[in-house]
Amino acid sequence: MSVNTIAVFDSGIGGLTVVRELFALLPHERIVYFGDTARVPYGSRSTDIIRRYAREDTELLLQQRPSLIVVACGTVSAVALDVVQETAGGIDVIGMIPAASAEALATTKNGRIGIIGTEATIGSNAYGAEILAYAAGRQIETFSQACPLFVPIAEEGWQDHPAAKLIAEEYLAPLVEVGVDTLILGCTHYPVLRSVIQSVMGPDVTLVNPGAASAKVVQRRVTPSSDTPEHLLMVSDIPRKFQSVGERFLGYELPPVRRVVYKEAWVVA
Ligand code: DGL
Repeated sequence: MSVNTIAVFDSGIGGLTVVRELFALLPHERIVYFGDTARVPYGSRSTDIIRRYAREDTELLLQQRPSLIVVACGTVSAVALDVVQETAGGIDVIGMIPAASAEALATTKNGRIGIIGTEATIGSNAYGAEILAYAAGRQIETFSQACPLFVPIAEEGWQDHPAAKLIAEEYLAPLVEVGVDTLILGCTHYPVLRSVIQSVMGPDVTLVNPGAASAKVVQRRVTPSSDTPEHLLMVSDIPRKFQSVGERFLGYELPPVRRVVYKEAWVVA
C-alpha cells in the first residue's frame, strides 16, 4: 500500500499543534511541514499579503506531491482558503474552521461561544459566520477577541513565563466577563498556551482546539498505510529555534529541519 503524504503549513510553529494530532491519529503517513518563519506573523498583515503567502506556501508543498493539504493556520483558513484550493488543483484541502465550529456548537450549553484568533481571523468573522450558519435555530451568540501577542509568545517558547499570564488576563477579560462556556483557540499557535488560557478562563470553560478537531477530518479522508515514513520539516528562516521550541512543545525529537528560500523579485506597486 502506498504511503500518503499529508502536507501541512502555517506561518511558523503553530501548525505543529496540528501535526501533533496527526502523528497520534495517523502515525504511518508521511508528514511534510512548512513553517514560514521568515514571514511570521501572518495575522497582522493585509488580506492581499496573506493570500500571496498562501499561494506561495502551497506551491512549495505541491513539489512534494501531497495527497492532501492541511491549512494548519487559522488566518489562512479564514481569508485565503480559496487561494490554497485554487493553487492545489484537485487536491483535497482541509482548513481549520468547519470542524472547530461544529465542535464548539456541540459543546456549548449556554450558547455563548468565544473565539480568539489573529487580527485577520477575527476581522474576517469567518468563525462567527460558520457557527451561525450551522446553529440550526438555536440561540447562539459569539464573542471574538484578537490576541496578536500570543503568536510571538508561542514562537519564543514563553508559555510558562509570567508575561504570558499577564497578557492572557488582559486579552481574555472581556470573554470571562460575558460568561462564554466554550472558547475556540482560533489560531493554531494558541494551543501552545493552552494551560495559561485555561487558568485565566477557569475550569468550567471548554477550550476547542481546531487542530485536534480537523485532524479527525483528515483521518476520515485518508486510507491508512502501514509504512514507517520519513517526515520532512521545512522553514523559511534559521531552523534552530523552530527545532528547539518545536521539540519542547511536542515532547520528542524532530527530524532535522530544512531551510527553504523563496526566490522573488521586488516590483514597485
Ligand atoms: N498560526 C496562525 C493562525 O492560526 C498564524 C499566526 C500568525 O502568523 O499571525 O492564525
